[in-house]
Amino acid sequence: MQENKIYIAPLQGFTDYAFRAAFRGLFGTPDAAFSPFIETHKPDSRMYRDVLPEKNQGYRLIPQLLGNEADEMLPVVAELQQMGYDEINLNLGCPYPMVTRKTMGAGLLPHPDRIDRILDGLLNNATCRISVKMRLGFAGNDEWKALLPVLNRYPLSEVIVHGRTASQMYKGDVDVASFAAMAGQLAHPVCFNGNIFSLADFESLADQLPFVSRWMIGRGLIANPLLMQEIRTGQKASDEEIRKALDQLHDQLLYQNSQRLNGNSHVLNKMKPYWEYFAMWLAGKEKGLKKIKKSTTPEAYVMACNAVLKG
Ligand SMILES: Cc1cc2nc3c(=O)[nH]c(=O)nc-3n(C[C@H](O)[C@H](O)[C@H](O)COP(=O)(O)O)c2cc1C
Repeated sequence: MQENKIYIAPLQGFTDYAFRAAFRGLFGTPDAAFSPFIETHKPDSRMYRDVLPEKNQGYRLIPQLLGNEADEMLPVVAELQQMGYDEINLNLGCPYPMVTRKTMGAGLLPHPDRIDRILDGLLNNATCRISVKMRLGFAGNDEWKALLPVLNRYPLSEVIVHGRTASQMYKGDVDVASFAAMAGQLAHPVCFNGNIFSLADFESLADQLPFVSRWMIGRGLIANPLLMQEIRTGQKASDEEIRKALDQLHDQLLYQNSQRLNGNSHVLNKMKPYWEYFAMWLAGKEKGLKKIKKSTTPEAYVMACNAVLKG
């Protein structure tokens, strides 16, 4: 049996370099992490901030691009190659209307011809490896069928499939059967993504998908940073261990974000959204969680966090 590979998913606003470094330092090195998407149609030197090599040491980072023209992406790919990256991931999964309306992200899925042109342009002109992260379809869970011949025509290094349609956003069941059907016809290594929140979720999926050895996890690793270790060792962590892990992770994120962001409100606006995921394993702490949400000063925020995480 092949060893399982665990990847940190890209989550814009959450899994940035500060998160990735904190995660790796505290909980072990993932087999790879993918950067939240870099938009290629409005070039700006700040677009590389999250992937600067000096901020991403000690683990394999694969930068992800969002766009719909190879010509716009190629200068970005060249810049990333200059930085030392040897693989780039193409976003075909972002479901937000602001993105899909412009025929980017999952908005490209109903247009295999456009995807064909992008892959042709990228693979004929870039010297690095290209992987793809996609959904099963835009509105229907069988739209991948029309895309398959295109994907199979190119030497992609891997295809990561979030087993939902774009219309589902991040809710509802992940369609494991459609994922399996697609994986069976795909000529590339395949990675499963979607709703792995616990060791039991992972074990159930591993049973259903014995041919899969690559697993990408996003929200599940934020909610329980010990999940990667649980999967690697087969040992479930206790609620107390998870609470301690969240405390350590939160401390580092708060420190790093306080250093780099200007002003208390920016720091609080950055930190508070993490609690949507942290809350998952903190049953019985609803009152404390409400206080965190309502806090308006750093002092009130830290006090409320300590009551939940250290108490
Ligand atoms: C807030 C948020 C931001 C996201 N940003 C990105 C992104 O930049 N690129 C991408 O490919 N997927 C993005 N995703 C999707 C995740 O990478 C992942 O596919 C999805 O959350 C399902 O996996 P999970 O259930 O393990 O979280 C985002 C998801 C969320 C909830």
